[in-house]
Amino acid sequence: MEVYSAKFVTSNTDVKKCPEPDKHEYAFIGRSNVGKSSLINMLTNHGKLAKTSGTPGKTQLINHFLINDEWYLVDLPGYGYARTSKSQRGQFSAMIRNYILQRENMICLFVLIDSRHDPLKVDLEFMEWLGENGVPFVMVFTKADKLTTTERMNCISKYQEKMKDTWESMPMAFITSAETKLGRVELLSYIEELNQLEME
Ligand code: GTP
Ligand code: MG
Repeated sequence: MEVYSAKFVTSNTDVKKCPEPDKHEYAFIGRSNVGKSSLINMLTNHGKLAKTSGTPGKTQLINHFLINDEWYLVDLPGYGYARTSKSQRGQFSAMIRNYILQRENMICLFVLIDSRHDPLKVDLEFMEWLGENGVPFVMVFTKADKLTTTERMNCISKYQEKMKDTWESMPMAFITSAETKLGRVELLSYIEELNQLEME
């Protein structure tokens, strides 16, 4: 699938104020600084669509982008960012939780994971919570340009090892880099496949 248009629509703090849920949408979540906004820019071939930063905590709202006038990509704030004040952290998680549980047209959540780290508790727990709530998601390993091919494989194996006790089967996993565009074709093909599904 080609992305021929990508437009910013709205930023919201509340799922109830998001655009009409009449199109398929795919949201990007993960720890702060994992590369959510960068991946959205990479997929849309648009350097500055979603705001990125070297400092964690850049994205603080639910941001909708309309792609090809047909479906939405959604950039979400990160979780697990220690330097945000406690009350704000609570607010973020409520905002994110409500969005994830209530947004009826969100077809698949892309859970971004920094491929440079060993499995982190916060990511494992977040995915368990998604599983418990029946939220469809896939794993997306980011910043793969910083790793060798062997290290990339090891990173997936480590998650498999950690998750095998809780999960019947591993969620689908993609390996990506916003720098080299690794994984772009695969992610867009996957979205195209999901776009074919009828809206319920
Ligand atoms: P928050 O909005 O703060 O939650 O962060 P985010 O997850 O949206 O991350 P963002 O896209 O802003 O990227 C964070 C930093 O990681 C930036 O300095 C990016 O340039 C860098 N980065 C993102 N993706 C990649 C990648 O694939 N490779 C490399 N080398 N750096 C990346
Ligand atoms: Mg961001």
